[in-house]
Amino acid sequence: MSLKSQDKEIYDLIQRERKRQAETINLIASENFASREVMEALGSILTNKYAENYPRKRYYGGCEVIDELEELAKERVRKTFGLPLDWHVNVQPYSGSPANLEVYNALLEPGDTIMSMDLASGGHLTHGSPVNFSGKNYKFVHYGVSEKTGRLDYMEILKLADKINPKLILCGYTAYSREVDFKKFREIADKVKAIAMADISHIAGLIAGAAHLSPFPFFDVVTTTVHKTLRGPRAAIIMCKDKYATAIDKSVFPGMQGGPHENAIAAIAVTMKEASTSSFRKYAEQVVKNAKILAQSLQDFGFKIISDGTDNHLMIVDLTNKNISGLEARKLLESAGIVSSQSPIPKDPRKPWDPSGVRLGTPAVTSRGMKEKEMSKIAAWIAAVITDPSIAAKVKQEVKRFTKNFKAPGL
Ligand SMILES: Cc1ncc(COP(=O)(O)O)c(C=O)c1O
Repeated sequence: MSLKSQDKEIYDLIQRERKRQAETINLIASENFASREVMEALGSILTNKYAENYPRKRYYGGCEVIDELEELAKERVRKTFGLPLDWHVNVQPYSGSPANLEVYNALLEPGDTIMSMDLASGGHLTHGSPVNFSGKNYKFVHYGVSEKTGRLDYMEILKLADKINPKLILCGYTAYSREVDFKKFREIADKVKAIAMADISHIAGLIAGAAHLSPFPFFDVVTTTVHKTLRGPRAAIIMCKDKYATAIDKSVFPGMQGGPHENAIAAIAVTMKEASTSSFRKYAEQVVKNAKILAQSLQDFGFKIISDGTDNHLMIVDLTNKNISGLEARKLLESAGIVSSQSPIPKDPRKPWDPSGVRLGTPAVTSRGMKEKEMSKIAAWIAAVITDPSIAAKVKQEVKRFTKNFKAPGL
């Protein structure tokens, strides 16, 4: 019995998606290729098991193996991120969005003030967007980036914090390309006696691979997804100082979630083992090298990059000088086999659905073994297609041939 013989419709859709992934260049900064091993854990018999609550306190029988598994996953998270001894780990959040809401729910009352980055400057929906649960239930006040440099302005963030006295300061971004000075955030939080929270979803793999400064031990709480630069399953982790452990655990279960996805937790454990190897360090280093070359090459073709470059895995291309919107550019590039996401630029005059930029990232192409030379080639294709849309179909064929030389893990 197999999916192929039992459910051809779904099997065929998976094969079509596999082909799409194999034959295109994926520059979506939040995506990656999970290994076969990660997927083996994710698709294992662990999906059969209910295990509400935490190890040794379950509401269901038959959890002795699951308890061991969840403890091992937590231990590996500790090791991979080098967590201080007085930190606690929760590996049950279903994904990044619930993880963030679970932290707010644990440490704040509805209506409390949170300071975070606005969406256009690089924040996430769960960082207080008015259309999100976060923005509807807490009072968010946003900081942005400096208009001049496109970077965080720590003096301005301090001034704003001083003025509004937030109960929690959130540092962590979906579309910010510069290294974050975590220590400065700690100092600002201390000055106004706020809880310091970091959402490292995007850069967690770089942190694990020592290609970005670590937020530990400067913060009180850290959340991360596992499926972006970390190359793991779609899942999330909350790490916090011991004094917040009980509140965080209660907020995850029973506060917001039911039974944990133990298959995802096993896949988190596999990811953590992979992310603590020397080859993962090399990977993280190459992700950053590739992003820098991609940004530089695009600049050489006259593209504007917010903050003039990148220190991490992503860049925001401001298309206002190219006479094309973010949505149009995304669609055009996709017709040439290059997949990206539209993105707002700071203080974007356009709407989020069709903003002024695209976000490009190198985690997925680096997982396929692409290096500096390939980044220059990709930049040349992007420039050529944006300049002359009529060549998109031809470039798509070239991209298809090109991708054959770079096997994606897990495909
Ligand atoms: C910084 C940040 N936090 C949280 C999330 C939410 O993660 P998920 O899509 O798994 O809910 C994202 C996803 O893009 C993100 O970029």
